[in-house]
Parts: sequence; structure tokens; C-alpha cells
Amino acid sequence: MKAIVLAAGSGTRMKSNMPKCLHKVLGRTMLNIVLDTLHEAGISEIIVVTGHKEEQLRESVTAKVEYAHQAEQLGTGHAVMVAKEFLSKNDDVLVLYGDAPLVTADTICNLTDEHMKKGNAISVVSTRIDNPHGYGRIVHPTADEKFLRIVEHKDLASGQEMINEINTGVYAFNGKALLDALPLIQPQNVAGEYYLTDTLEIIQTNGLKAGVVLAPDASEFLGINNRVQLAQASDVLKERINKKHMMDGVTIIDPNTTWISHDVSIGVDTIIYPGVILEKTRIGKNCILGPNTRIVGSDISDYAEVDNSVVLESSIGEHTTVGPFAYVRPNSNVGTHCKVGNFVEVKNSTVGDYSKASHLTYVGDADIGSHVNLGCGSVTVNYDGEKKFRTVVEDNAFVGCNTNLVAPVTVKEGAYTAAGSTITDEVPERALAIARARQVNKKGWRKK
Ligand code: UD1
Ligand code: CA
Repeated sequence: MKAIVLAAGSGTRMKSNMPKCLHKVLGRTMLNIVLDTLHEAGISEIIVVTGHKEEQLRESVTAKVEYAHQAEQLGTGHAVMVAKEFLSKNDDVLVLYGDAPLVTADTICNLTDEHMKKGNAISVVSTRIDNPHGYGRIVHPTADEKFLRIVEHKDLASGQEMINEINTGVYAFNGKALLDALPLIQPQNVAGEYYLTDTLEIIQTNGLKAGVVLAPDASEFLGINNRVQLAQASDVLKERINKKHMMDGVTIIDPNTTWISHDVSIGVDTIIYPGVILEKTRIGKNCILGPNTRIVGSDISDYAEVDNSVVLESSIGEHTTVGPFAYVRPNSNVGTHCKVGNFVEVKNSTVGDYSKASHLTYVGDADIGSHVNLGCGSVTVNYDGEKKFRTVVEDNAFVGCNTNLVAPVTVKEGAYTAAGSTITDEVPERALAIARARQVNKKGWRKK
């Protein structure tokens, strides 16, 4: 089975300079979410219809798809029409909208199963919602109505507003039935658009079978037309992801304020405090992620703790603690049993096992060995205003408080630096470097 995803609209109601389907829900564009879901459902032949600012949209697509170009957005029926060369009479095809990113692979599989089983020429997924405002309504055949129909909100007759079974915008079509129906759509409605939903009646008029698959969970079908709905969709996705982690053995103290994107794995017995944001990251087991921590593109090993801190594109070893208020910037590898304490910044550096920078330290472009102590206020002076240089501190070294290590420079194995030193030359193994003026006391100076 193939799929067509409609994403050509501008999304006027978003009031945005970006095309609507480029807006992100928990870190992924709406369009990429829909495409990922189709892949999950086993659909690999996908045609995306683009139009408004289409270069921008096409550049953002991560999946392998084909494109059809809709120059003017004349309606959802017209959008499918521009993709008709991709359709074949013998194949069935799914149609989904790029602005409904919460649809699950289960729903898609259920639709295709029902569609085949019933021998339908068109199958529509519907759901019941409390507030159907803005959605197309499902009108079932009655004594006076011969056909199953979808009536758009703008075209509702009086009394039909109350219908709370809506069109979700997820369809399965028989290829031939769709190809035959498309040219018969007329833009005779309040919006003056070519509605895809009109194919439902046309296909039945042609003597073929139509069916509705009622989906139980309405939250899957939130269509995003404005930023309020965008936030609602993020909320639904967040809840879904958090639930899965909790079912898998992760403690999330406040799921309402915990934002985890789809590409995160977390080990069992890890505890997550309120306000944590995780993206594209692996978290080990038995970790503690303290409040207001943001971790992106990183790998945090078992038993590590990160509290009130930011970790970007870095790795943190087992039993290491980070924070509170630490900033680990890209390309840093911190070993096991380390301490990256409060107001410590680490950037583009390696830190060996059992090393500590407990407070107020900058470790930039440095290679720190194991069992190193970086005293409070020690700073790698890595930048001369033009170039950056590396600092090396070998195993078991002790860097005294408020030491400047002017790079390029090496503190050799087991060496010490005296507090307040500005180190510009290599410190030999096991030596003590003192690089500061001696103290002079001027007696009675105050009175003078
Ligand atoms: C549509 C359905 C409505 C359904 C709702 C579900 C129709 C006529 N109506 O309404 O029954 O309840 O979705 O969310 O289909 N698009 C194009 N080209 C166009 C027009 C739209 O590619 O010319 C794309 C848009 O980018 C969007 C999707 O199709 O991703 C849906 O269009 P939209 O205008 O948002 O339709 P709704 O009014 O929400
Ligand atoms: Ca919509």
C-alpha cells in the first residue's frame, strides 16, 4: 500500500512565516512525525504534496519520499489530484494530512485491515469528540439519506452542528475508485474548494462500497490549525511518551512538566524531577535527574546524577554527579565517579575517572587525567583572542584554588599548583609550581 500525505497548505491560522507542517511537536516537525508513523505502520512508498514554501519543507524531511507539487492550494481534493500520476488502478492508497501528527501506527494498520476485510472502495477513520467545531462531520445514511457523507463545518445544515462524530482525515482508497472520483469533485461549497471528502459520496454513486472505522481515542486526531492546538498536540505526545517510560520502570515525579522527545531511552529505576527536558539522549539505569535539567544529544551512564544543569552533546560516566548549576557543552567526555560541581563549565574536554571540579571552574579544550582535583575557581585560559589551545592535566595532579592554566600548558603526573598561581610553563611530575608574588605586609599603612 502507498500513502499520500497532504502538506501544501500555508496554514494561515498559524500566523507564521513557516509552512504549517514545518512547526515542531516535541522536537520533530509535524510532517516528519506523520512520515515516521507511516514507516512504523510498514508503509514505505510515500508521496508528499507540497506547495507553500515547499523548498523549506522538503529540506526538513528526514524520510525517503517522493513529492508532488501543488502550485495553488485549491483544496484537499485538488491536492490529491496533483499526485494522481503516482497512483495506480490496482493499488490501494492511504491519504493522511500533514497537520494531524498524533495518529498512531495502530490506527493506520486497523484502517487497512478493515478496508481489506470489508472490501471497501473507500474507508474513513472517524472519532467522537466533545467539541467538533471546525471538523467535517460524518453523516450516516438514514431513511432520507441514501449515502454516507462528510459535511464540512462551514457547510453544515441547521441541526448538524450537534453531530460529534468527525472526519479524522485518515482514509484508505481503492486506487481505481479514487482515480475515477477525483475528476468529478466540484468546488460547490461555502469555501469554494475541491474537497477530498466529496469522493465519499461520488464513490458510492458509482456503486461501490464505503465504510467508516470508528476510532476510540479522539486525542489521536487533533488537527493543528493554530498555535493553541500546537501546544495541545505537544501535551498529548508528551503524555504518551512519559506514560511509556513510566510503564517501563522510570519514576517521573511530575509528568506534566517533564518533556521527553521520541528519541530518548531511559533505564529502569531512574528518577526524574520536575522540569526536566530530554532530547535525543540515552539515560542509564538508577540515574537521578534533578529539577530543571536539560540534556540534549548526550549519553548519561548508570547511577549518574545531573541536577539543575545543562548537558549538550556529551557523555557522563557511571556514578558521576553533575551540578547543581553546571554547564557541560558539546564534545565533552566525563569519566566515571567524577564530580562536576556547582557553577562548573566543561567544554570540548575529556575528564578522567574519579576527577573532581567541585566549584566555580572552567574546563575548556582540556584533557584532564584521572584522580585529578581542580580547586575552586581554577580556569583553563584556552583563548588568546585569536586561537584556542589545549590544556593537559595528568593523572593525580592537584590544581590549587584560583589557578590559571594558560594554554598550551601541561601539569604533569602527580604535580601540584599553589593556589592563585598563573601557570604558563609545564609543571614537572610531582613538583609544586608556585607562580604568584609573595605577600608583603606594610605595617601601620592605614594610619599613614
Ligand atoms: C480537513 C477535512 C475535515 C477534517 C479535518 C481533520 C477536508 C475538506 N476537510 O479540514 O473533514 O475533519 O481535516 O483535521 O478535507 N492541504 C493541501 N492542499 C490544499 C488544502 C489543504 O495540501 O489545497 C493540506 C494542508 O496542508 C493540511 C491538510 O491538507 O495539512 C488539511 O487541510 P486543512 O485546510 O487544514 O483542512 P481542515 O479544514 O482542517
Ligand atoms: Ca486541518
